[in-house]
Amino acid sequence: MNAIVVYESLWGNTAAIARAIAEGLGPNARALSTAEAVPDTVAGADWIVAGSPLFAFRLPTDDIRETIRKKAAAFATPPDLSHPSLRRWLESLPPGAGRSAAFETRIWWSPGGATGAILKSLKSAGYAPAARGKRFRVTGMTGPLKPGELDRARAWGAHLARLNQ
Ligand SMILES: Cc1cc2nc3c(=O)[nH]c(=O)nc-3n(C[C@H](O)[C@H](O)[C@H](O)COP(=O)(O)O)c2cc1C
Repeated sequence: MNAIVVYESLWGNTAAIARAIAEGLGPNARALSTAEAVPDTVAGADWIVAGSPLFAFRLPTDDIRETIRKKAAAFATPPDLSHPSLRRWLESLPPGAGRSAAFETRIWWSPGGATGAILKSLKSAGYAPAARGKRFRVTGMTGPLKPGELDRARAWGAHLARLNQ
């Protein structure tokens, strides 16, 4: 298994979950931001797990990222908008072959989600979804993660690794 766990994360919650999933997947897995997951790196992967925060009920859009950028000073912790959105990363993902899974971080109930769009794009690129989308919870608009979520993420990563056996 050569797995990458790719994430978009403005306040670090999704990044922390991605690292925990990679730990669970095992030594052949790496967590990478959308800026780090360049085509050469992705080309060697036979598993792609991708995740993002849920913003305004969906996979973050350019519009919501622009709104957050304009209101950056209103947040106690400045948002990190230095890496591309997962939506843009998925749009430029070269065709490949392998398995995929998706996750999102969110506060709680929402009429929509991000993992459906992520899995659809991964499937179009040749990475067959191997599990249902997974949700991880934060306790406020910019986090922190709810206690126990990193353990859940490690356990989910280990579950994905077992699907490979
Ligand atoms: C502008 C904005 C919109 C959000 N919209 C939603 C939402 O629709 N549903 C939800 O459950 N959480 C929502 N959240 C909470 C984020 O999903 C949550 O804080 C996420 O874990 C942030 O991930 P990150 O730290 O990786 O950027 C929103 C947060 C912000 C700042």
